[in-house]
Amino acid sequence: MKPLNQYIYDIEVPGTRQFANKVDQYENTIDLTLGQSGFDPPEYIKEAMIAAITDNKLRYTHNKGLLELRETISEYTFNRHQTYFNPENEIVVTNGGSEGIDDVLRTILNPGDEVILPSPTYLGYEPIIKLAGCDTKLVDTTTTNFKPTANNLEQAITEKTKAVIFNYPTNPTGTTLTYDEIASIVNVLKGTGIYIITDEIYSENVYERKHRSFMEFPAIRNQLFVINGLSKSHALTGARIGYVLSTPHLIEQVTAVHLYNSICVATPSQYGAISALKHGDEDIKKMSQAYVERRNYIYSRIQKMGLPVEKPEGAFYIFPDISQYNPNSFEFCTELLESEQLAVVPGKSFSQFGEGHIRLSFACTMQEIAEACDRLQRFLANYDKQVN
Ligand SMILES: Cc1ncc(COP(=O)(O)O)c(C=O)c1O
Repeated sequence: MKPLNQYIYDIEVPGTRQFANKVDQYENTIDLTLGQSGFDPPEYIKEAMIAAITDNKLRYTHNKGLLELRETISEYTFNRHQTYFNPENEIVVTNGGSEGIDDVLRTILNPGDEVILPSPTYLGYEPIIKLAGCDTKLVDTTTTNFKPTANNLEQAITEKTKAVIFNYPTNPTGTTLTYDEIASIVNVLKGTGIYIITDEIYSENVYERKHRSFMEFPAIRNQLFVINGLSKSHALTGARIGYVLSTPHLIEQVTAVHLYNSICVATPSQYGAISALKHGDEDIKKMSQAYVERRNYIYSRIQKMGLPVEKPEGAFYIFPDISQYNPNSFEFCTELLESEQLAVVPGKSFSQFGEGHIRLSFACTMQEIAEACDRLQRFLANYDKQVN
C-alpha cells in the first residue's frame, strides 16, 4: 500500500481516551474524567430543535451558518464584551469549538511553522498542529500559577512562530486571566504578525468575576481568532455548536476550510443555538452557582487531603499535585482506578508540564463528587502507608 499522510504517526490516542478505555473494565466506577456538564439542556433549547425537525428545517444552511444565528451570536458577544463582530462577514458557525480550532489552524499554518502553547494545555491543539507538519513550542506555566507571562512568551517567540493559542479559563487547571494580564500579553504580541487564537469555550464558567476576553483589545483585532461555542456554557456537547470570530478576510478563508470540511452545522442544532443564546442567561447563572458550590467543596476536600492545589477560578476542573505520592500520573491514575474505581485524568495528558498532577472534573453531581473525594482520601491514606 502507498504510505499514509507522513504526519499521521505523530498523532497519539489522547491520554484521556487511553485512560477512558480502561474505565469500562470496572464496576461501580465514579467517573470524573468527563469534560461535560452533568445538567440536562434547558427545555426551550430542545423544543427549538424539535420544532426545526417538525418544520422540515433539515436542508443545508448558509456555509457560515443561519444569518439569524450569526446575528444572535453577534448580539450575545456585544452584550458581554462591548465588541462588535459583523454577522455578515466576521462570524462562522462550526461543528463545536473543535472544528473551529481545526479550521483556523489549517487556514494559517504552513509546514515548519511553530505554534506556542502555554502548558499544561488542552490536548486538542497539538495533533492538528502536527498534522499540518508544524511544531508546538510549549511554554511552562507551572511556576507562574499556570498563567503565561509577557516575559515567558517573549522568550518563546522565534522567526518560526506563526500563532499562540490561549485558553482562559483553562482546561485542565481552571486558571483565568485578568484584564491587566491579558493587556500585558497583548503588548508583546500586537503588531508582530503572529496570530492570536483564543479558545474561550469556558467563557461562561468564570466564578469570582466577569470573564475578560482578548477581543476587548482593538490593537490585535487583525491578528485575532476567537473560538467559542455552546458545548460547555449551555450543556450542549452533543449538539456540536461552535463558532469563530475574526476579521472579514480571515473569516472568508476559515469559511472555505469549513465548507469543504462539513458544508454547514446540522440545521436543528443551529435553531437550538439561537434559542439557547437568546434565552439562556438565567440557566447559565444557575449552573454556575452549582459549579461554584461543587468547586468550593472539592477544593476544600483536596486541600484537607494535603495535596498542593490552586483554587480553580473557571472551567470545571481541578488539578492537584500528586507528585509526593507518585510522580507518574498515569501510574497513579491506574492504581486509583484499580483500587477505588475512581476515574480521573492523568496530568501528563496535558503535556509534560502537567505531569505529577491529576485532573478531576466537578461538572457532575455533588453526590458523585462527595463519593469521589471519599475514595481519593482513602486511596491516599493507604498509599501513604505503603510508601512509609
Ligand atoms: C479547551 C477546549 N476547547 C475546545 C473543546 C471542544 O469543544 P467542543 O465540544 O465545542 O468541540 C474542549 C472540550 O473539552 C475544550 O476543553
